[in-house]
This record gives sequence, structure tokens and C-alpha cells, in this order.
Amino acid sequence: MPTLLQVISEPNEILRKISIAIKVDEIPRYKILFDDMIFTMKESDGIGLAAPQISKNIRVIIVNTKDGPQVMINPAITSRSILKEWDEEGCLSVPMTFGKVKRHKKIVCKYFDSSGSQKQVEAKGLMARVIQHEIDHLDGVLFIDSAKNIKKLKTLN
Ligand code: CO
Repeated sequence: MPTLLQVISEPNEILRKISIAIKVDEIPRYKILFDDMIFTMKESDGIGLAAPQISKNIRVIIVNTKDGPQVMINPAITSRSILKEWDEEGCLSVPMTFGKVKRHKKIVCKYFDSSGSQKQVEAKGLMARVIQHEIDHLDGVLFIDSAKNIKKLKTLN
């Protein structure tokens, strides 16, 4: 059974650090962490999760694709559409807050998967947005840094 990891919230300096790449030959060591991150993302109803959000400053993101959760290690965007679009985003580390962020409509991203194979994916729309959002986390960037029309929801107590 995987472990539910604690998702940290802004403000926290861990969320603002530049995360470090994983050495490809060390990828197998992280198998349990990847499974725990996938479990935590699902339990939190997230469509993405980046390692800094669970207090690890390493370059790992999880993205929930139509084919299921994908672990992306050392992800790097290699190509971006000129066209950008605005859409609403939220973040597990910025609870109850939403705002519109301008992102590239299409990207190409290379990464290593959890078995250490080099992969490349072309993503558009929501998936392109999620990947850009999660990679920002690896560089200490949060969506609220560039969002407009930021809305904070209040809980009823
Ligand atoms: Co986020």
C-alpha cells in the first residue's frame, strides 16, 4: 500500500527552490517515491504533482494523462507553440485559490520515465498546461506569480 504524502502549502521556502536533476542510473531507487506521489496526487484529486510539493527538491513530476498517471523525470520542454492561451488554474500547494495563467498551447517535452527510458511527448491544451505548471514548480515558480483575476474561495465554518 502506498503512503499518502504531506502536500506542503505556500508560503514555504521548499516551494521556491530550484530542484536538482536525478541521475538516470539512480531512477530505480525512487520507485517507492513515485508510487507514493501517484497515490498522493489521486487522493488529493490533483491532475499533477511536483516533487517540491511533497518536500523533495528533485526534478520529478506526475501528470494524470488519459492513459493514467505518468511519471516524468528531469522533464524539459524542447519546443513551444508561439500561440498562448489563458485558462484557469489552481494548485494543491495554494489551496482554495484560482487564477488565469497564460501558457503555450502546445509543447514538446522530453523526460525519463520510471524505468529510465528517454521519452518525448507532444502535448496540447490541458496536458500542455499541466506540464508547464508542474515544471514551473521545479524552478520555484507558482502559478500565482503570473496569474490574473486571482480568486480566493472561502470555506464555510
Ligand atoms: Co501546482
